[in-house]
Amino acid sequence: MAVPAEEIAQVRGATDIVGLISEQVALKKTGRRWSGLCPFHSEKSPSFSVNAEEGLYYCFGCQKSGDAITFVRETQGLDFIDAVRLLADRAGITLHEDEGGPDRRDRALLLDAMERAVEFYHQRLLTSPDGGAARIYLRSRGYDGELVRQFRLGWAPDDWDQLARHLGVPERILEGAGLGFTNRRGRPQDFLRARVVFPICDSSGHPIAMGGRILPPVPGQPLPDRPQPKYKNSPETEIYSKRRTLYGLNWAKKQIVETGEIIVCEGYTDVIAFFQAGLPRAVATCGTALGEEHFSLMRNFAKRIVLAYDADAAGQSATGRVYEWERKHEVDVAVVELPMGTDPAELGRSDPEALREAVKNAKPFLKFRVDRALSLGDMSTAEGRARAAEEALAVVAEHPNPLVRDQYLVSVADRCHLDPQLVRDRLAQHVAGERPRSPERSRSRPEDMPPPLDDDEGPPEDMDLAAPAEVADRPGLEALRFAVHRPELVANRLEPFLFRNRDQRSAFEALLAATSLAEAIENAPAAASALLRRVAVEEPLIAPTTTADPVAPVIAQLLRAAVRQGIADLQAELRQKTVAVSEGTLQVTQVHAWLEALDDPGEGPMAERALVGWLSGRRGAS
Ligand code: UTP
Ligand code: MN
Repeated sequence: MAVPAEEIAQVRGATDIVGLISEQVALKKTGRRWSGLCPFHSEKSPSFSVNAEEGLYYCFGCQKSGDAITFVRETQGLDFIDAVRLLADRAGITLHEDEGGPDRRDRALLLDAMERAVEFYHQRLLTSPDGGAARIYLRSRGYDGELVRQFRLGWAPDDWDQLARHLGVPERILEGAGLGFTNRRGRPQDFLRARVVFPICDSSGHPIAMGGRILPPVPGQPLPDRPQPKYKNSPETEIYSKRRTLYGLNWAKKQIVETGEIIVCEGYTDVIAFFQAGLPRAVATCGTALGEEHFSLMRNFAKRIVLAYDADAAGQSATGRVYEWERKHEVDVAVVELPMGTDPAELGRSDPEALREAVKNAKPFLKFRVDRALSLGDMSTAEGRARAAEEALAVVAEHPNPLVRDQYLVSVADRCHLDPQLVRDRLAQHVAGERPRSPERSRSRPEDMPPPLDDDEGPPEDMDLAAPAEVADRPGLEALRFAVHRPELVANRLEPFLFRNRDQRSAFEALLAATSLAEAIENAPAAASALLRRVAVEEPLIAPTTTADPVAPVIAQLLRAAVRQGIADLQAELRQKTVAVSEGTLQVTQVHAWLEALDDPGEGPMAERALVGWLSGRRGAS
């Protein structure tokens, strides 16, 4: 169960945290740091920062912080040890777990089996004689060898157990990966048979599942005894969650980040069609409706989400929730208008230019739905226009923002030749009467609805402010930055008691006691540890090159505050007569002289040492 500490350290050290985080967040290099939009909360401007050298991240917005292991834990919902395993696997490190029961290492085995299965099927498609029909079919769809290789398409032979025999893994691995099962005779059997295979990868490109498509029936050949579904998709497994997976993201990621736009379509072949049409930024949900978790994955990569479902599906997709997600994840959702009854794959094949145009002309989600409602109405009669207006208003009413609603109602009134004020009153009734999020409406949706929203909403969306340090705490924070990044500049000059803020003080104490930042972070109390992780991704505000001694003004500020307190204490002692008046007055005069000398370039260093000495003497005495 337990992994030796050295191996955990080795895994940390071997992980490129920028690479790891980049699989989910677009990071840009700014100075020595990397920054991007925080994957843990909604925001418009990047407050998420990564220190590559130390292997740490910190968000100035939500204060989440950690290292590669915590990142994997939080983003993938793994426990510590599984996160370590995943990273070890990624880095090619073999862990020596004390008593790792066989099932604990299964994840790696499942991924390995999946990878080998994808390769097996891929080779069958490329080379084996029984893959001929599939090759002909794919060629007829315009898929050439290069494309087949890019998407690692495969062919699952028309047989019971070729994959199972090829893999030779224990049944629990075969079944656990969704690649096969034990049949009624107690023998392993392949999950896919006689199907074209579309591997589904995680965002870094490791296969985690697959979808298999039947070949179209051949004229003259007998049909199968039972009708087969067109696609068979891997079941949910330990390595595959449909709610969190988008087919194609691993290939599309690069262009998505470059353009800030992500196209979402319905199927494997649609994604491939977008790539072929020169829009390699398309992804698809895999046999499930677009849900909240897909949104939170997408928003890390792009701010504009373009739905390219076939026309009917787009109108019906999760509606009310789309607005909610738009707001919560700060993305804009637009809809591509496709000719009725066509999907992107068909349009891409017949007229790629039209597909590109359609994406370019995608409409905001609400506009698309209003236009649709109106276009379905009979606009030639007064009754028809009134009915169309009602339909359109029902759609407008679902939008949560009254300013948006009002603009659409004006356009509805205009297009239906109605008095805007009348329409406005009518809309108010819709808004009051028919809430878009009423559970009844949601439940009545025909398609597979996404799961309910998480209830642990955390802070409201508009709480996007990076909590600035209290003014009084700023010098301490800056001093900590120097202590972390330029320890040689503060050596023997800073003392823990100079930090008035308790967490800063224990952070500094932890630094003093440790031989490395990582060790200090590990040993410091929670709040101080969090502070250190934050400081690890910051630079001192005062550029160390601007002055000969950039730390002096920072220490001076700390000293002034500490000395002010020291003098106040001393005066209290004088009043209580615990200190002789002559002695006390002398000290106060002396201290004021040092304070004045503090800013003097010549005498400053001496005054600094003297004041630190005075303060530490008082502490020793009291
Ligand atoms: P479609 O029926 O539109 O298939 O289903 P497609 O992607 O256009 O495939 P081609 O172009 O006919 O080959 C869209 C998506 O719905 C899921 C698949 O993910 C598919 O890509 N689906 C469809 C299934 O999961 N099972 C099915 O039986 C059919
Ligand atoms: Mn289709």
